[in-house]
Amino acid sequence: MDSLKDIISTVVKRLYGVDAPVEFSEVPAEIAGDYSCNVAMRLAKQAGKAPRDIANEIIAELPREYEYSVAGPGFINITVPGTALVSILEDAWSDDYGCNESGKGKIAVSEFPSTNMAKPYSVGHLRPGTQGWAAKQILEANGWKVITDNHLGDSGTPFGIWATGFKRSGKSIDDVTIYDLGEIYIQMKADMKAEEAAGEHALADSAQDWLLKLESGDTEAKELSDRFNQISLDHIHSVMKRMNLSTDYELGESFFVERGKELVKKFLAEGKFVQNEDGSVICPLDEFGIEVPMLMLKSNGAALYATTDLACLDYRLHEWKADRLIYAVGAEQKFYFEQLFAVAKKLGWNAEMMHVWFGTIDQISPEGKREKMSSRKGVVLLEDMLNDATRRVRENFASEELSDEDVRKIATGAIKYSDFVADRKMGILYDPEKIFALTGQSGPFCQYACVRMRRILEKNPEFDDDFTGYDFATEKPILTKLLAFPGLVASIADNLEAHRIAGYCFELAQELNRYYENAPIATASTEVKNARLWTIDKASKVLAKGLDLLGIEIPDKM
Ligand code: ARG
Repeated sequence: MDSLKDIISTVVKRLYGVDAPVEFSEVPAEIAGDYSCNVAMRLAKQAGKAPRDIANEIIAELPREYEYSVAGPGFINITVPGTALVSILEDAWSDDYGCNESGKGKIAVSEFPSTNMAKPYSVGHLRPGTQGWAAKQILEANGWKVITDNHLGDSGTPFGIWATGFKRSGKSIDDVTIYDLGEIYIQMKADMKAEEAAGEHALADSAQDWLLKLESGDTEAKELSDRFNQISLDHIHSVMKRMNLSTDYELGESFFVERGKELVKKFLAEGKFVQNEDGSVICPLDEFGIEVPMLMLKSNGAALYATTDLACLDYRLHEWKADRLIYAVGAEQKFYFEQLFAVAKKLGWNAEMMHVWFGTIDQISPEGKREKMSSRKGVVLLEDMLNDATRRVRENFASEELSDEDVRKIATGAIKYSDFVADRKMGILYDPEKIFALTGQSGPFCQYACVRMRRILEKNPEFDDDFTGYDFATEKPILTKLLAFPGLVASIADNLEAHRIAGYCFELAQELNRYYENAPIATASTEVKNARLWTIDKASKVLAKGLDLLGIEIPDKM
């Protein structure tokens, strides 16, 4: 519909001498027209005329292949015959329909899921993965080059705790699992707290010793550390594989420790950072309205989370030449990223930095209350959630012989979609009754609509674009929806509102289900059959593309 928008702009310019942006909104089915435009109302003041009169004046100049009417206070409603929608879609159609080149030549880094070493992957890192992946997909669809990076939490400090706990456990290094390491850490933390309360420090000293040993290159310490890292990475990769996530890089915190210390030294010398009496280094941020300075280096000269992030930011901007940085990290770190981005500004590092934060994952308690997701053991492991989802899919979708791969796609599709049901800033509810339902707004609902359409196309592989005499009236709701897709993708490039894609996919899937009921194919004439298969072909591709932007795969069967 862009050409009609341009025509209206030109007419407005000619009649009223004004450059007015022209936008269309879709008209709800119960009102006459397919699109609506409010330009006449916006011109009323300048033109000194009633909006309805302006609307009529504009309409008189518009191409006759569409129908127009003036509605309400001065909306121009436009009715486009189905056949005209088909030609517009045919002209716009390409293999990557919906994508645009607006970000061409620009580089973004999307960071996710940034899990931590030696801890089992928990549901706490679910949203970073799904949201970070969608950010990458959305930016790529808008022509950006996107580099993905898993900022592993692998910096030294906790190592001493694991080494001490592991030695104490008496376990053999060959048998120890990621779950053992997770438990060892929790137990050690509790014991160290108790120890401190009792005024003792044997465990703390031992942890510190191991850390020093590692730093001085002690063989046993190095062996332990390598082994813990390998166990952790194998685990992280296996969970990511189930979620169908991957990243180009895995430059963890430890990669940036030395670089970070160097940078802190440099900015201290340049007077941008300030050294406290105790030796610690801070970056004052008053000029950005942030009263709390960012602590950049510990008093003993050791690196902090912020030290490594400073170097990481520098690396992404200057090594990778990124124009935009996306951090898919939970809401707890909001203030931290505000500070970090302010530090970058202070250093004159200009790029768009975005903390893509999100709410918690909630569950319904046995008493029926909504609460933050947890289990008797504490955090819920993402693997447990995936196993639960897999079991449910096998139970709910038992009618078909499903392959393991299809079960995985449906299970993760349900989980991922639930992440996008509402604006990411909202908490999400893991409600198995809803997220696996084939009715209502769910991942499987959207996947099923797509599978159904593909099945029809498989049964009718031969069709061509001879639609002679067919008016595409039944198809209009689908065609207008398909025409809206590119605009939607373009409109979310800045704020990465992936949930709007999820909403779109749901609406398209609903439209397709209605269509499926009203548009028989087997009994139709060749032209009508061609038209319907053509429509289904385009719609199933757009639906699959929309879901792909959310990282949701389409199973072969369901
Ligand atoms: N590993 C951290 C955590 O689990 C998240 C890392 C976020 N990214 C960053 N560049 N600081 O909390």
